[in-house]
Amino acid sequence: MSLILVTGGSGRIGSRLAQTLKQSGHQVRAFDRVAPPTGTADDYVVGDLDDAQALAAALDGVTAVAHLAALMSWHPKDEDAMFAINVQGTYNLLQATRGLSLERFVFASSGEVYPELKPQYLPIDENHPTLPTSAYGMTKLLGEEMVKGFARRHGLSTCILRFAHTQAPEELFDANSFFSGPRFYINAKLRQLRGLPPSSAVEQSIAALEAVATPEEQHFIGCAPDGTPYRMGICSVSDMIEGVRLGLEHPAASGETFNIGPQKAVAFDEFVPYLAQKTGLPVQPVSLHTASYRYETSVEKAQRELGYAPQMTIFDMIDEGAKLREGNFAAD
Ligand SMILES: NC(=O)c1ccc[n+]([C@@H]2O[C@H](COP(=O)([O-])OP(=O)(O)OC[C@H]3O[C@@H](n4cnc5c(N)ncnc54)[C@H](O)[C@@H]3O)[C@@H](O)[C@H]2O)c1
Repeated sequence: MSLILVTGGSGRIGSRLAQTLKQSGHQVRAFDRVAPPTGTADDYVVGDLDDAQALAAALDGVTAVAHLAALMSWHPKDEDAMFAINVQGTYNLLQATRGLSLERFVFASSGEVYPELKPQYLPIDENHPTLPTSAYGMTKLLGEEMVKGFARRHGLSTCILRFAHTQAPEELFDANSFFSGPRFYINAKLRQLRGLPPSSAVEQSIAALEAVATPEEQHFIGCAPDGTPYRMGICSVSDMIEGVRLGLEHPAASGETFNIGPQKAVAFDEFVPYLAQKTGLPVQPVSLHTASYRYETSVEKAQRELGYAPQMTIFDMIDEGAKLREGNFAAD
């Protein structure tokens, strides 16, 4: 019987991954700083990636690992913690796997290992130079190198997955959620920008948002300073989970690196108005001076070699989020 360890098993993707793997008949153990939601894993170890004893307990009897525990932050104050968790923590976990006969070690990397904000060509495929522009992207690239090093030196069967930006459908409707809030909601974006160290780009963006903000929340269509709407891939958690499952199970995944994400990128002026129709909130374009998102990432390699077939568009995710919200209202 296989036992899969999901690190970060209480997180947004990890908790849903644990639940899906469990539902498909695997034994699943979660490892995280906090306990997972009830019923998502068969068992769990609460511990930190810096705790060798907790890691040994978590790895006991395990046949495969999906390593998702990480800190994602773009705030300078979190850089030290990010290197400690994403780099040293990944090293600690890899060291703790030595001597175990693991069938697969899957590492959750990120599209931020590429220069997504200034790509050299589009769509970004796995051959694109890895030149991260954020500290977070640097930690993920260092993680990848360690994973590859352990594969070379210790014969570990590894798979590196470069995750696209990933959302659960219900998050799209939550102005307070980590990603969707500042991406699609004006007051949430203002709160995020006001928490950043001041710079002229931040000040100009705050001014542009304040010019249209109202006490009631509104959507905005993020645009570059020249008014071009942002464009990027947004993956559903369910498609991302399928990518991780393939990384864990597919023979062709061993020793390889894949982009995992949606079928294609989408412009914000195409779908934010659709989200606004469902939430009933006003929507307007706002040109920001902070980083502009104008990229497309190819998942063709995962499609060709693993049979990865992303199912959900952003419109499907909005429809599903709206249904879940209606269900919640009906239950209230
Ligand atoms: N969600 C995305 O858009 C996205 C995009 C690219 C890559 N990723 C990667 O996917 C993985 C999962 O992302 P997510 O969105 O579920 O993030 P998340 O923040 O919801 O989950 C991360 C989990 O890791 C746990 N964790 C953090 N530090 C830990 C430590 N020191 N010891 C033990 N547990 C610790 C947290 O408690 C949390 O539950 C991460 O590795 C992230 O970098 C996510």
